[in-house]
Amino acid sequence: MKKIRLDRYLSESGLGTRKEVKKLIKQKRVAVNGKIINDPSKHVDPEKDKVFLDDLPVEHKKHHYYMFNKPSGYITAKEDKNYPTVMEFFEDNPFYNKLFPVGRLDIDTEGLLLITDDGQLGHRISHPKWEVEKEYYAVVKGNISDTNTDKYKKEGLKFKNFKTKPFNIKVLSSSTEKSEITITVKEGKYHIVKKIMEKLDHPVLYLKRIRVGNLKLDKSLEAGEYRELTEKEIKQLKKLVNLKA
Ligand code: URA
Repeated sequence: MKKIRLDRYLSESGLGTRKEVKKLIKQKRVAVNGKIINDPSKHVDPEKDKVFLDDLPVEHKKHHYYMFNKPSGYITAKEDKNYPTVMEFFEDNPFYNKLFPVGRLDIDTEGLLLITDDGQLGHRISHPKWEVEKEYYAVVKGNISDTNTDKYKKEGLKFKNFKTKPFNIKVLSSSTEKSEITITVKEGKYHIVKKIMEKLDHPVLYLKRIRVGNLKLDKSLEAGEYRELTEKEIKQLKKLVNLKA
């Protein structure tokens, strides 16, 4: 792997801004392969060199990946003039400036949103070419158990200007007023679930994303909370879109 400056290594690993980590180096608290280094411009190999702060190993991470449970009422964007955005929950994160949300959930949609600074992965997860599954829990109007939704597993659904990719609806419960379903789609088109359900005469009353590819929303994650993805989850996610782990 390409060598990088020691201050960059420490900063990318989450220890602070370049200015902050330079202080740590000057305080002689940073060692590379057992030797204290006081030059921030020293180059290290992130794959081979062993970097320590005091007595603790510092693992290098080029990119950062978070599972976020989006609450209703927040726009999926970096900035917005009129509404609060999902990024407000990341304001204290050391990588805030580089982070962005992957794909888009509507302001009133809740649930799993991936937040990362890995542009390539983010792009691929949202791109229809890679057909990454997105699963939603939805409450829809009316009794859906009389509607035949099986055919959409093969054909998708035709609209005036476009056709969806095949999608899968599972009915969890139904009554005359409303039904609970899960719906799995393979694209990220704007309002895709709401459009499909509207056309099937069962408009969406409530929508929550519960899965993206291999990533299932943690039940323990309250709305507005996030956690880092594990190495295993990142590996699986990259594999889905043909990227090297
Ligand atoms: N489909 C929708 O209609 N809304 C969302 O937020 C996500 C998928």
